[in-house]
Amino acid sequence: MSAARHMIALLKSHLEGDDKEFLSVAMQAAAHEARLGHVAVAQQLRDLIDESKRRSSSVGKRSGQLVVLEPRGELASLLSVQTPDIRFSDMALPETLAERLKRVLLEQRQQKRLREHSLSPRRKLLFLGPPGSGKTMTASALAGELHLPLFTIMLEGLITKFMGETAAKLRLVFEAIRQTQGVYLFDEFDALGTHRGQSNDVGEIRRVLNSFLQLLEKDNSQSLIVAATNHPELLDKALFRRFDDVIEYKLPDSKLAEEILQRKLAMFQTADIVWSRILPETEGLSQAELVRASEEAAKRAVLGGSTRITSEALIAAVHERKAASH
Ligand SMILES: Nc1ncnc2c1ncn2[C@@H]1O[C@H](COP(=O)(O)OP(=O)(O)O)[C@@H](O)[C@H]1O
Ligand SMILES: [Mg+2]
Repeated sequence: MSAARHMIALLKSHLEGDDKEFLSVAMQAAAHEARLGHVAVAQQLRDLIDESKRRSSSVGKRSGQLVVLEPRGELASLLSVQTPDIRFSDMALPETLAERLKRVLLEQRQQKRLREHSLSPRRKLLFLGPPGSGKTMTASALAGELHLPLFTIMLEGLITKFMGETAAKLRLVFEAIRQTQGVYLFDEFDALGTHRGQSNDVGEIRRVLNSFLQLLEKDNSQSLIVAATNHPELLDKALFRRFDDVIEYKLPDSKLAEEILQRKLAMFQTADIVWSRILPETEGLSQAELVRASEEAAKRAVLGGSTRITSEALIAAVHERKAASH
């Protein structure tokens, strides 16, 4: 097809509201440009297509049954919505952690039975642990497993200089929690407890946190509320007992580190890798950094024209990650 024909097909699909066809024509146009040797244009098209897929998935138009309305009005600056399709099976988890998360799922799935006996499922969760250890990913996986939308509370929008305003916004968020069932993630939650407003007024921070805790306590919705923090030491211990479950994340041991690397490299030839050489080097790296290291090693192999990953390449990538994280 010529560029003009692509344009016609694009406009047609746009008029018909056929997003799938629209993107498919755009992909064809990208391929066409690539064949003509217009590498930069082709790449730009592909990037835009990726971005557009990412956005449309965030409003839940994906093939699944889940249709989620974008938060509107004031809520739009407080909540962002996604419909994740990741599962716990996509994560490498230590057994004890996997058990605890399975229990949350089980209680959610069996909540009718529990409620018949005046019992309520665990649904207010606090995740503690170092950056990159999978807290945010777990919230996505919970939503994916339960086929619920994931609403992330945007703390930048929530916290204002004015205490009255912040409290009103918090109430709005909890109203949404009550009205629309979902997984609600207060990520980097410590910001709520430790944020210094311009007045640097400690009393003010306490009040924000207190109003959060009161709203949390009062909430008897069907939603899951997840608060996650990399800085548990900044939180008041009294806060912990307001949650149904406090779940601790740790950096991976070498068994888990190997699992993460293996999973990420599953599409590559890894038979040559001597794991006993790699694993001691991974100590101190987070799950996220291990994922990055394996991706780096894989990319380098691909660009070197091979799908074979060597121990040396993987060790180099691990060292690079280590250097970047210190
Ligand atoms: N248990 C895990 N299994 C596989 N990948 C993981 C795991 N934990 C983290 N990751 C990888 O690290 C990235 C960052 O993790 P994230 O959940 O954002 O960490 P946190 O919220 O604890 O800082 C994830 O997107 C994923 O690629
Ligand atoms: Mg996170």
